[in-house]
Amino acid sequence: MFQNDLFKGKIVLVTGGGSGIGYAIAKQYLALGATVYIASRNAEKIAKAITELKEIGDVRSAIADIRETAQIENLANQIKEEVGRLDILVNNAGGQFPSAAENISYNGFRAVVTNNLIGTFYVTQIMAKTFFIPQKDGNIVNIIANIFRGFPGMVHTGAARAGVDNMTKTLAIEWVRYNIRVNAIAPGIIQSSGMDTYPPAIIKGIEKSIPNQRMGTVDEVAYPVLFLSSPMASYISGETLYVDAGNRLWGDQWKMWSESLT
Ligand SMILES: NC(=O)c1ccc[n+]([C@@H]2O[C@H](COP(=O)([O-])OP(=O)(O)OC[C@H]3O[C@@H](n4cnc5c(N)ncnc54)[C@H](OP(=O)(O)O)[C@@H]3O)[C@@H](O)[C@H]2O)c1
Repeated sequence: MFQNDLFKGKIVLVTGGGSGIGYAIAKQYLALGATVYIASRNAEKIAKAITELKEIGDVRSAIADIRETAQIENLANQIKEEVGRLDILVNNAGGQFPSAAENISYNGFRAVVTNNLIGTFYVTQIMAKTFFIPQKDGNIVNIIANIFRGFPGMVHTGAARAGVDNMTKTLAIEWVRYNIRVNAIAPGIIQSSGMDTYPPAIIKGIEKSIPNQRMGTVDEVAYPVLFLSSPMASYISGETLYVDAGNRLWGDQWKMWSESLT
């Protein structure tokens, strides 16, 4: 679909690139010639992904928790020492758990916001200060979620992702002076490893809540990430692209969730 060498010579960092959507994003960048760093907490997961992805291209590993600034600084230093620059940051790492809002503890809410909003900001700020701002060149794609009508069943991540959605717009304007584009992708319901963490009662029959009656694939999220970070999207910044087959506009998702949540 894309030119084979579209990202040749580019250095890409995909947080959470060891599984699911992040893995598919890393794989597609590698196939199009980029050097790709995948970073997350679980060393075993990253090692397994590296073994598979090195068949495709120059993939490199980093162990880092996006909630820990020191670890993100180490990651930036590692990339700087090894390859000297970064061209594209994909903020994909994240996680949440389904719960009725009234049952989420203070710590549970704080954990999701710390991971999905504050962690994403840390990574973005550190990578921008280390690479994009001095280079006067950079590209950021934030993976958020379908928050178009709120996020019933996961108020913590809805709030966190709305924060990243707004951050996408703010940074697109603040950092235009450094030639940095900032966009976001809002995936709908995607068949990926992230789904394994949800109770089967929620997943069963979930297709019925989607207009085209099927979940998205991880590649269907990866392709628009590639597009937004490519020269084909050079006049697009501050945008959130929904990759949800129109799910944000349709159906009563809360009814289905509320029946399975306590
Ligand atoms: N699947 C969907 O339907 C869907 C829809 C909307 C949005 N999303 C979002 O898309 C992203 C990818 O989801 P997925 O479905 O591919 O799930 P996944 O396989 O669970 O991917 C999440 C990745 O994030 C990493 N991660 C989580 N917390 C981290 C932290 N504190 N520091 C570093 N890495 C961390 C995990 O690796 P480690 O455990 O090794 O840290 C994992 O590789 C997530 O942000 C998810 O919330 C998914």
